[in-house]
Amino acid sequence: RPPTAISPSILSSDFARLADECERMVRLGADWLHVAVMDGHFVPNLTLGAPIVKSLRRHTPAFLDVHLMVTNPAQWFQDFAAADASMYTFHLEAAAGGADALRAGPAGAAGEAGIPAVHDLIAAVKAAGMLCGITVKPNTPVELLLPYVQSVDMVLVMTVEPGFGGQSFMPAMMDKVRFLRSRFPDLYIEVDGGLAPDTIQQAAAAGANAIVAGSAIFGAADPRAVIQQLRAAVDA
Ligand code: DX5
Repeated sequence: RPPTAISPSILSSDFARLADECERMVRLGADWLHVAVMDGHFVPNLTLGAPIVKSLRRHTPAFLDVHLMVTNPAQWFQDFAAADASMYTFHLEAAAGGADALRAGPAGAAGEAGIPAVHDLIAAVKAAGMLCGITVKPNTPVELLLPYVQSVDMVLVMTVEPGFGGQSFMPAMMDKVRFLRSRFPDLYIEVDGGLAPDTIQQAAAAGANAIVAGSAIFGAADPRAVIQQLRAAVDA
């Protein structure tokens, strides 16, 4: 299993003090900062874009783990590369032209080989100088990621329906994490949604090594202790 990364989600931060909040998280032990980018189309929420990341980068050297919950991830990767994002994680459902397009045919739109546009986007993100992640929503079968796993730097398994913080962890998603970890022992597997001291054990046992947490960390009386608890569970 690759090194543990605890990635506080800035969606739960005070956006009016974003740079201070990011510096605070790093001081409290965060390995990465999870930047939830939402366009109001792919998910029913609207957050921030590359200009904010560009400004944020002037205040922190931290690893910016950017998660694109947007309809057209191919449209934005250059802007985020120019903003010095560290990792660019996009939704398979979006890159494939929507969840329906993805499901066409017995094993998804293009079966074993995968969808050319998805392969092209992965290559373009990496050519732009960022690490590349790919992610699926809860209702999308994890098998549809198989054609791309060897090309990406990370797979993000959503453990809530994307769009908002503070939702409940979906234990059924651990089947996806186990499926990936059993086949790809060295793969970065991130989980996002409802991770907290009371749910981290399941994710750690399933094989996740990168942990996104928003409300559990930003809402805690002692965020440092929560970050330590999450890390300890994964490292155990
Ligand atoms: C949800 C975002 C998550 C969210 C997690 O769509 O991708 O990063 O901020 O928040 P919690 O940890 O509160 O579920």
